[in-house]
Amino acid sequence: MLAPSILAGDWWNIGQQIEATIGGGADILHYDVMDGHFVPNITAGYELLAHIRKRVSLPIDAHLMIENPDKYIPKFIEAGANWISVHIENNYHIHRTLQLIKELGAKAGVVINPGTSLSAIEEAIYYADYVLLMSVNPGFSGQKFIERSIERLIALKDIRDRINPYCLIEIDGGIKESNITDVVKAGADVIVVGSGIFKAKDIEAQTRKLKSLMLQAVSI
Ligand code: DX5
Ligand code: ZN
Repeated sequence: MLAPSILAGDWWNIGQQIEATIGGGADILHYDVMDGHFVPNITAGYELLAHIRKRVSLPIDAHLMIENPDKYIPKFIEAGANWISVHIENNYHIHRTLQLIKELGAKAGVVINPGTSLSAIEEAIYYADYVLLMSVNPGFSGQKFIERSIERLIALKDIRDRINPYCLIEIDGGIKESNITDVVKAGADVIVVGSGIFKAKDIEAQTRKLKSLMLQAVSI
């Protein structure tokens, strides 16, 4: 699945740009939420998400990079998020949080930063619908892909296959035309792309191109 990250878009024209990604074959919309505390940047909250929800039928994947996610999860689900992911790094009670997301009817994801050992999420994978491997430090779009992420992806796939084969693997950060084939081959099921789509002149054509590279990679 290809998940355009709207953080990299032109927010004046975001509606048209989202439609262009849908025209190009986007499977799910990735919506980054930052609070200026957990990460050094601030983005939009659940109210903008509700506006997008009214016009877009694709699943919306809210990536919460915030402190106290449990407090805001109900608001995001009420606003129309279908997938919600929370970081392991600031969560002492990940089981409780994943259960909360599921009880409210959304898919529950656990996110891991580049510097966190994969062993930290092993147990959470058992309860999660998806695991999100960060391939940049969270906070900004347009950062460089951390190459070590490929090895981590391969190792994560082994853990996932052993602990919970139903858990999808998502990857986020620095993915573009030049490395999308590698991440698909290494085992990612859901690929987030921000600047690699929204900085292109023709967003629809670029989305279509990335989608076809992904399909080629799985068929090889
Ligand atoms: C970073 C965000 C990403 C970001 C991806 O903290 O979680 O979703 O928008 O953007 P690119 O693909 O430009 O790295
Ligand atoms: Zn993200």
